[in-house]
Amino acid sequence: MPVNIVFASHHNTLKTAPYLLEALIQRRSQFLLEQINRSESTVSVVLMDDASMTDYNQQYRSKSGPTNVLSFPTVEGQHDMDQVLPDELAHDELGDILISVETAQREAQKKGISLHQRLTELLIHGLLHLIGYDHEISDEQAESMFSREKELFDFIQHHYARRKKMPQLTINVDHIATIRQARGGTEPDPVLAAGICELAGAKGIVVHLREDRRHIQDRDVRLLRQTLKTRLNLEMANVKEIVEIALEIQPDMITLVPEKRKELTTEGGLDVMNNKKKLFKTIRKMTKAGIPVSIFIDPDAAQVAAAQEVGATYVELHTGRYCDAENEQERDKEFHLIEQTAELAFEKGLRVNAGHGLDYRTTTRIAGIPGIEELSIGHAVIARSAFVGLDQAVREMQACIDQARQ
Ligand code: PXP
Repeated sequence: MPVNIVFASHHNTLKTAPYLLEALIQRRSQFLLEQINRSESTVSVVLMDDASMTDYNQQYRSKSGPTNVLSFPTVEGQHDMDQVLPDELAHDELGDILISVETAQREAQKKGISLHQRLTELLIHGLLHLIGYDHEISDEQAESMFSREKELFDFIQHHYARRKKMPQLTINVDHIATIRQARGGTEPDPVLAAGICELAGAKGIVVHLREDRRHIQDRDVRLLRQTLKTRLNLEMANVKEIVEIALEIQPDMITLVPEKRKELTTEGGLDVMNNKKKLFKTIRKMTKAGIPVSIFIDPDAAQVAAAQEVGATYVELHTGRYCDAENEQERDKEFHLIEQTAELAFEKGLRVNAGHGLDYRTTTRIAGIPGIEELSIGHAVIARSAFVGLDQAVREMQACIDQARQ
C-alpha cells in the first residue's frame, strides 16, 4: 500500500475513531498521489498530538510550540515537483508527513470547516513539500506552491462535489399513533398529522411499521401512500412479513432498522457486517421493485463498508449517542464520529441521512455536516407539538436546520 498511516500519540482526537481517520486519510492521500503523478510512490503520514509535534518542531526547526504539519522528504532538495517520473524512479519513497491532529482540529474550528477538510489541506501542503515545492525559498516559489495547493484542493473539492444544500426535514409521526393506540381508538390520526407536517414544510414523512404494531398500523401506511404529497420513508425490520407489505405498498424508500420487542425505541444501528446475506437478498428485491434502501447504522467505518457491499443506496447515521451525550466533550467526540462517517460514506458513493434523538438543541450542528441529505426527526417534534401545535413545532425544527446555513 503506498500510504502508511501511523498514529504516534494517544490524544483524544486520535482516540475518537482512529480507523475512520485512517480510512479517510488513506483515500485522500491515494487520490492526491495520483494527481501529482506519484501513484506508485510510498508516503508515510504520521498523526500526532500537539505535545509530540512540539518536540519535532523544536528538534528539527528549533521552533517552540506545535505546528500543524512537517514534511521530511527521503531525498532532500529534489526538484522534480509533480513532473511525470521515469519508471525507475516511480516507486520511490517520498518521505514522511507529520500532522498534529490537535492543531488541525483547532484550525478547522476557526475556519469553520470540517477536520477532514483541514487535514486534506495539510496533506496537500506536506505532499508538495515532499516533491520539491518550498514556499520558504523565494516569493516566486511560494507563489508556485500556493497556487498548486489551491489547484489541488479545488480539484479534490470538485471531485468529491457534495451537496451544498441543507438537509431536508422529514418527520416521523409514529408517536401520534402512540397516543392513538393508548386508547385504542381513531384519534389522533397519524395520516392527518402527516398532512399538517407537509403543510408546515416537511419534505417527507417517516413511519415505522413495527412487527408488534405498537403504534403505526397497516392502514396508516396504506393511507399515507395514497395521500402524501411528499415522500414516504417506511422504517422496518428485515423480516418476511414486513418486506412483503413494503413491496406491495411501494413507499418512496425504506429504512432497514434492527427491532427488538421490548425496546422503547430503536436502540442502535443495524449490524450490517453480520447480516450481509439476508440484507443482500432484501435489497435485491427492493431494487428490482424500484425502492431505494437505506440502512440505519451506527457511525462506524466497517458498517459503512458493509452497507456499500450489500448494495444499499443510503445509510442513515444514528445520532442517538451524540444527542444523549452527558457532557460537551462526549458530545464533540460523537459529533466528529458522525461527521467523519458521513464523509466516508459520501466518498464511497452512498447517500447519507441521519437521525434519532435529534431535538431543538442538537439538530443545527448535525444539519451543518456537508453531504447529509435528510434528517429524520420524530419524538422531539411530536412532544413539542403538545404545547405549540404540530404546525409550529415543525416550523421551529425547520428553523433549527436553517440556522446551520449561517
Ligand atoms: N431514525 C430511525 C432509524 C428511527 O428508528 C427513529 C425512531 O423511530 C428516528 C430516526 C427518529 O428518532 P426520534 O423519534 O428520536 O426523533
